Amino acid sequence: MCGIVGYLGKKQACPILLNGLKRLEYRGYDSSGVALINGGLEIHKCKGKVSDLEAMIGKKNVVANMGIGHTRWATHGEANDPNAHPHTSNNGKLVIVHNGIIENSDSLKKLLLTKNYTFTSETDTEVLINFIEFVKKEEKVSLDQAVRIALNEVVGAYAIAVISLDDPELIVVARLGSPLVLGLGNNEFFIGSDATPFLDLTKKVIYLEDGEIAIISKNGISIRTIESDLPVDAVIHKLQMDLDSIEKGGYDHFMLKEIFEQPTSISNTISGRLNIKNCEVRISGLDEISDNLISADRIIIIGCGTSWHAGIVGEYLIEDLGRVPVEVEYASEFRYRNPIISSKDVVIAISQSGETADTLAAIKMAKSSGACVFGICNVAGSSIARESHAGAFTHAGPEIGVASTKAFTAQVTVLVMIALYLGRKKENLSEKRFREVAQELKMIPAKITSMLNLDPKIKTIAKLLDKATNALFLGRGFNFPVALEGALKLKEISYIHAEGYPAAEMKHGPIALIDENMPVIILAPGGGLYEKLLSNIQEVKARKGKVISITGCDQTEVKEFSDAVIEIPETIECLTPLLTTIPLQLLSYHVAVQRDCNVDQPRNLAKAVTVE
Ligand code: G6P
Repeated sequence: MCGIVGYLGKKQACPILLNGLKRLEYRGYDSSGVALINGGLEIHKCKGKVSDLEAMIGKKNVVANMGIGHTRWATHGEANDPNAHPHTSNNGKLVIVHNGIIENSDSLKKLLLTKNYTFTSETDTEVLINFIEFVKKEEKVSLDQAVRIALNEVVGAYAIAVISLDDPELIVVARLGSPLVLGLGNNEFFIGSDATPFLDLTKKVIYLEDGEIAIISKNGISIRTIESDLPVDAVIHKLQMDLDSIEKGGYDHFMLKEIFEQPTSISNTISGRLNIKNCEVRISGLDEISDNLISADRIIIIGCGTSWHAGIVGEYLIEDLGRVPVEVEYASEFRYRNPIISSKDVVIAISQSGETADTLAAIKMAKSSGACVFGICNVAGSSIARESHAGAFTHAGPEIGVASTKAFTAQVTVLVMIALYLGRKKENLSEKRFREVAQELKMIPAKITSMLNLDPKIKTIAKLLDKATNALFLGRGFNFPVALEGALKLKEISYIHAEGYPAAEMKHGPIALIDENMPVIILAPGGGLYEKLLSNIQEVKARKGKVISITGCDQTEVKEFSDAVIEIPETIECLTPLLTTIPLQLLSYHVAVQRDCNVDQPRNLAKAVTVE
């Protein structure tokens, strides 16, 4: 993971870099650092958050018009000061920041040790910068050529920015497998792992592609291929994001803001895409691969974390409404298990960030086996969006809180529309049913708004959980994946061990754990399996477990047996995940706050996992 930034221009670089790093902290926050050149080289770095780095730099008068910076999510070596980036080469002149993993760093290090290189950190990045210095010296080449030649020897993933004391008006950047965006200002240039660091400074961006190196100087940007050193024509894109969308807007945490944004984000996801009168879903990406979709033997959905949970909801929806067989796989398993894939398969890859390394690699593998790939991403211009044959953006707006909330409901919303699209195209779904689901989908944002009014009540219910060490989430049918997602949310931000289970499986194991200390959150919103869930609730109560039920307004029996009840508005069964998810998000949020946890930046996690 990690986030990298850079600046070259006329302004003071240090505040621009620090501000940019704060916006990239969702990518990692173990340590951070900046390197600036102005006559000499100035490096500041330390363990901890960017605010710690800022405090360390304090009122020091750091004057420089160019520099690079980094916020780290540790891969090689623990989070401490020596392992923090930037890293410097042995001659003290070359400096690097890096996002990714250099897989052959051990062998490169062995070579460098024979040449008397020494190392002060445990990182693969320090090996890379010394290897670049070695190449530069051996080949007697310029900085950009040394970087390019060195990268041809590297195995792994990287987005890097390199500066040199000998070339104080030059930044060399390159990427393979990790994202990198260049911002073009007025005689100034910005670098970021995404565009948020310079969102308020320019809207003109270039998305560097895998296998490209860019040489940034005061005269402009020149892009070449890493492998063959051929020139590349850069395409300049205009950013649509604005600054408000990445700020907290009066909320205590990004996560809370993003939970409350869901009526708007889901409306945006649906906007212009549902024509109820004609029973049509209008998503141009679906039309682009319509033939593949209609003739597909099956759909394989891949994703990681929360996106994988959305994928399971998608499986239930597409099989129910579209009547096409669906398999859902963790991208990390799929890519390594020699699956049978053919040109008759359509792979739907789901990713909020569009940068998850395992999902990206799984897409590439599916494409090489002839499958058609459809991406569901939240970030425009992201690697997965570009790597897919076609796709649909979720339009949820930037999600900053590490625990995914509005991205999940937006993904599920897109999956509802895909299921409707398939149902109509394959003539498996009647116009009546299409209209029923589509009308109801349009009502979901208003229903979520009414549920958000339950926030104070959910805050009180959260007290039933804040001393717990374990929790169980049970659901069935469409709400089984919601149970998984609810458990993940609680684990991620409150560090309470939680498991999501299909309710009927409780008797095959988890029931052994139930006693008066075990809170059990049961999703029983009504529908076909309601009676069975009621039995599960009674089974938990018989063993003195505490039951928190998420249920419909009419389900009086559930209320009788529950210690706490959260009611959801009435909707059709296949759309209940869009409602039942909301109280679970709020519940985890309040439990985490009550336990004094860092909600937006939980320990050891990062928002975009660009390493395996
Ligand atoms: C990380 C994030 C999760 C996210 C998962 C997949 O683990 O912390 O919130 O669900 O990555 O990310 P993606 O961007 O591919 O949806």
